[in-house]
Amino acid sequence: MPVKPLQGFLRRTIRRLLTGEGQILLESRVPFLEDRLGGIEQLGLYLHIPFCRQICPYCPYNKELYNPEVASQYAQAVSREIDFYSRLVGDKPVTSFYIGGGTPTTMLHSGLGEILEHIFRAFNMQCEIHMESHPNDLSKENLETVKCLGVQHLSVGVEALQDRHLRTLQRPYTVQEAKGAVERAVAAGFKCVNVDVIFALPDQTIAEVEQTGRELVELGADQVAAYPLFAFPYTQMGRDGQADTRSKSGVLRRRNMKRILEEIFYTAGYERTSVWAFTRRGVPKYCSVAVPLYLGLGASAGSYLKDLFYLNTFNVNEYINSLEQGTMPIALSVELSERMQMAGWLYWRIYETRFRKSDFEKRFAREFDSVFGKYLRPLSWVGLLRDDGEEVVLSDEGTYWLHVLEDLFSIDYVGKLWGVSQREPWPEKVAL
Ligand SMILES: C[S@@+](CC[C@H](N)C(=O)[O-])C[C@H]1O[C@@H](n2cnc3c(N)ncnc32)[C@H](O)[C@@H]1O
Ligand code: SF4
Repeated sequence: MPVKPLQGFLRRTIRRLLTGEGQILLESRVPFLEDRLGGIEQLGLYLHIPFCRQICPYCPYNKELYNPEVASQYAQAVSREIDFYSRLVGDKPVTSFYIGGGTPTTMLHSGLGEILEHIFRAFNMQCEIHMESHPNDLSKENLETVKCLGVQHLSVGVEALQDRHLRTLQRPYTVQEAKGAVERAVAAGFKCVNVDVIFALPDQTIAEVEQTGRELVELGADQVAAYPLFAFPYTQMGRDGQADTRSKSGVLRRRNMKRILEEIFYTAGYERTSVWAFTRRGVPKYCSVAVPLYLGLGASAGSYLKDLFYLNTFNVNEYINSLEQGTMPIALSVELSERMQMAGWLYWRIYETRFRKSDFEKRFAREFDSVFGKYLRPLSWVGLLRDDGEEVVLSDEGTYWLHVLEDLFSIDYVGKLWGVSQREPWPEKVAL
């Protein structure tokens, strides 16, 4: 069978086995939120800043070119959205807060401070801030501003440590400039500085991957998130077919590169903290929203409230307009059956590479093995994971192959859902 139909068949079969659903349908219905937040004990917050100073050809995220006037209107719109939620959330503790993008540091001097002040006034914040940043925004003065805003965990999007690859990715800095940014961030005294890099770039050699890993350790990065280049179909690179991610040779090349990185980081005293991240032992890990239920603020932000998932409109103007008119910017939503919630739970735990069965049992009041045991047992026989009866830990091989499987879903689902949402501000429905 050719590769694409085979992937489609696998995807449909696994989805049906794990979720019991023939398809996942997101519709333009705006859910009634009042009841949904009532029973929740704690929640996370995600804030999306959809602005960048340039548009990278591989990037799947929702963003547009930075414009200071639009940014300040955006800050006001986000404040309206915060007010709406704070009435519903009351004083329930917010135990995880992540600011992503786009590039959050574009708004350092045009509204980010005001948004954060508003969030800290409106919610019972019981957590620290994790935020993404761009190397070109990390002057010493800007880093001081970032710290003054209360960000304790910072991620820097370096992407490559060879100038030729920075050019392919159209990143607007040199290796030397990127290293300078990381050194300044490390010296600024954050609790965790994460560096993002992308590997399996077009023509990248194993030696270049090795050099990248070693230099990141020398630079003093507390955490490294090393992602293989994914080709999202609606990005420029995806359309040009520049990234070789799904062919057999692409899959094996990525595996070899990942093995090299594992060896370097384990030897240097880092441990795996997710499929693609290695964190220096003893350092708190940099991560996106770390609790199961969260509210998303901003254009394209998603919210997950137990049996409901919904997405805001991706279009920044529409987002601003709808909040100015006093309506919620929600574009698509889907009610999740218990089986779908369980499958979603398992998906994220596999991403984190370890989980406790008792956490599943606390969440769903069902024995983990009675629901998923039959699928995990064969994976344990072939060495992809270790199951001691309570804790399940993926092996290095397991993190790779299970992630190849997860990619079957993520790239396809994200490609479809985000692709449609970027074309149409208010889609009628999207079937996954
Ligand atoms: C929102 S960006 C980071 C912050 C900032 N916008 C920047 O580019 O420096 C999030 C990260 O996702 C990763 N990323 C983006 N597109 C990717 C792709 N197509 N394949 C693999 N990783 C990707 C990059 O490592 C990037 O740093
Ligand atoms: S990779 Fe970062 S800077 Fe580039 S377009 Fe995406 S979000 Fe913006």
